Amino acid sequence: MRGCFITFEGGEGSGKSTQIAQLAAHLRSQGRSVTITREPGGSPGAEAIRHIILSGTAEELGPEWEAVLFAAARADHVALLIKPALERGDIVLCDRFHDSTRVYQFLDPAQDRRLLERLEKAALSGLYPDLTIIIDVPVETGSERAAKRRGDRSADRFEKDDMAVQEGRRQAFLKIAADEPERCVVVNGDRPLQEVAQKIAAIVDDRLEARRFEAIGQSFSVGNGR
Ligand code: TYD
Repeated sequence: MRGCFITFEGGEGSGKSTQIAQLAAHLRSQGRSVTITREPGGSPGAEAIRHIILSGTAEELGPEWEAVLFAAARADHVALLIKPALERGDIVLCDRFHDSTRVYQFLDPAQDRRLLERLEKAALSGLYPDLTIIIDVPVETGSERAAKRRGDRSADRFEKDDMAVQEGRRQAFLKIAADEPERCVVVNGDRPLQEVAQKIAAIVDDRLEARRFEAIGQSFSVGNGR
């Protein structure tokens, strides 16, 4: 059975990386094989592009060209890391994926949707996540957490965007979840860490169980020649 592709999305300081580590420990304790990765990055080519984007070097090109860079990084990441891990049967936990491009680079509805769709199609080559966990936190809380985590380091290309932009992104993530309820689950990240972790573990356990039953059902109908 092909592995399971789970992406984590949310605004700055939503706690994605902490929750990914918690979930990985939970899944490994069940004997499952887990690959953790992140975007932009995850493969050598994509990590190089990450540096260009987050340093702000490409900012002047505008969001569409930044989206082209994210798409190039994603195509490399999918081909070299995500697909092989899924073929091995791993559960892949990815910190941000295509929804981040929709939300960060294409927040303005007046932008060219066809470009977004084409980039998405090219970068993913059919590999949409099986499940996307959107960790939702109020923008103020997220910004405070991100500032604490940063310490003395200056804010990167996207962390420095103002509260109104960040609130727009939060709403855009919630809209994706409303539009694609089969793929996306929203989790309230403004709760104690362990409570959020338990909630996410329960969602993922349910989803993996459902997939197991589906796979058993499929092999049963194949076995019956149907
Ligand atoms: P990172 O330091 O990994 O931040 P975070 O912990 O918030 O994920 O930086 C990734 C930044 O890149 C983040 O601000 C969101 C942004 N981003 C996009 O703008 N578009 C994308 O497609 C992706 C994957 C990330």
